[in-house]
Amino acid sequence: MPKITVDGRTIECKDRQMVLQACLDAGLTIPHYCYHPGLSIVASCRICLVEVEGLPKLVPSCQTPVRDGMVVYSNSPKAIANQKAVMEYLLINHPLDCPVCDQAGECYLQDYSYEYGRSESRFEEDKAKKPKKDLGLNVLLYNDRCIMCTRCVRFTREVSGQSELYVDGRGHREEIDIFPGKPLDNKLSGNVVDLCPVGALLDKDFLFKQRVWLLKQAPSISPADSGGENIYIEYNEGVIYRIKPRFNPEANQWWISDDTRYSFKPVHSPDRLRQARRSQYGSQIETAYGKAIEAADAAMRAAAKETAGALYAVLSPMMSCEEAWLLGKYVRSIDPTAVLILGPVPTMGEDEVFKHYLTGKETFRIKAEKVPNAAGIRRVITMLGGPSATFDDLIAATKPELKNLKAGWIVGGYLSNWIPTNQPAQFKKGFRVVQDILPTSLSEAADVVLPAAAWAEKDGCWENHAGKIQPFSAAIRPVEGARREGDVYFALLGRKGMYRAEDIRKEMGDPFATIKTPGIKEEERRLEFVEL
Ligand code: SF4
Ligand code: FES
Repeated sequence: MPKITVDGRTIECKDRQMVLQACLDAGLTIPHYCYHPGLSIVASCRICLVEVEGLPKLVPSCQTPVRDGMVVYSNSPKAIANQKAVMEYLLINHPLDCPVCDQAGECYLQDYSYEYGRSESRFEEDKAKKPKKDLGLNVLLYNDRCIMCTRCVRFTREVSGQSELYVDGRGHREEIDIFPGKPLDNKLSGNVVDLCPVGALLDKDFLFKQRVWLLKQAPSISPADSGGENIYIEYNEGVIYRIKPRFNPEANQWWISDDTRYSFKPVHSPDRLRQARRSQYGSQIETAYGKAIEAADAAMRAAAKETAGALYAVLSPMMSCEEAWLLGKYVRSIDPTAVLILGPVPTMGEDEVFKHYLTGKETFRIKAEKVPNAAGIRRVITMLGGPSATFDDLIAATKPELKNLKAGWIVGGYLSNWIPTNQPAQFKKGFRVVQDILPTSLSEAADVVLPAAAWAEKDGCWENHAGKIQPFSAAIRPVEGARREGDVYFALLGRKGMYRAEDIRKEMGDPFATIKTPGIKEEERRLEFVEL
């Protein structure tokens, strides 16, 4: 492995790596705008220029491969003079609107201005003013903030492959634009907002909602499909404001789909179920959560006493593997022949595949399966053994072993309505406990309704389409009136102490036992524990 020396520090590099990436990997800072590890290198912004011993002039560190024994200076007088000159040039026409810019606090221009810029501007003429533009469904362009790094243009060519963005004009008239009648509306469009190093490209949904330094991050996984995209949920005081990609070379690299980006909306839906209910004399009445659980448990036990094989549980592919495990354990503890059923797995057409505009190489895939954990629930049902059936079997009720079903525990948690429109009589028959986040025809007709926690309100793990099991952690508390499923099953199983997804994974054994919940502090978890 080649070794280079940067500002007096020797670092190990990968073969044929660029100097800038080697420095970033080693934790050294070299300013850069146009370079992004997921895009082609254009070396156009020139702020990353460094001095290399033996070379007559400064070279772009983002485009210069490492060579064993290379000696690099990013803080020599020549390199510093260049950084200051580039900053001065970029700020000539940049508006001074940081106080109202969404990017303030996470803006490269702001940070580098502080680190590498001049304290005063020598420019006294009028700044060029450029119009704001609506680029498409989710993205706005504040053109006069743009520093022409072309990251956004390269993304639409090299990753989303649709080439909607281009550079119009030359010199100081250069602008990012779309072609007439061709808005930026592909399913990866939101990534250009993440890529933009300044506040030129903005997410319409996040616009003026929150100062970024107030946001906290919880590492999580996308609930939108079975791709298992790694994300950060960004929230403040119990409200989720946005979702950002979390780099994972084996899942989503640096990108996420717009389905994932806005998948937090149902969490704050005004329709969320907030009140436990149970049926009395043919209609539902409000009840305390604890009472609803007692009623559900008593009815499940009574049905199991009457007939063997009378119980079933519908395990939703929105549940975590740990929750599915505990619910399976609970129904089987009452009736060892209880049937475990994977809930509906909605799909939409075929996978959406994105390709590089020139090479045709696949760059991103949005899975057609629109739930995150069908594979994990299938795995848990297999681990638990015993009778199982498909959701179609349950609906059709043609199998003789499903004829005796008298009581079922049905879990939803989907981001939108999931109930098949024509439920046959058999599915409607018998005692039904429904644990869900949004109201459906099923929750309205259920004997017990238990408001559940959405995925961002609990932790656990999901298995994606490729068999990769990934943990996610809670960002916010469940809405008032809702309870985490894990807490409910823990109470029903009569277990002492507190439900912790990590403990359940140890109990489940391989391949779950060694998976750690990312970024959760024990003290925070205690604060978030809610008595049933
Ligand atoms: S809009 Fe942002 S990402 Fe696109 S060229 Fe301008 S600064 Fe770069
Ligand atoms: S980051 Fe190297 S020239 Fe832009």
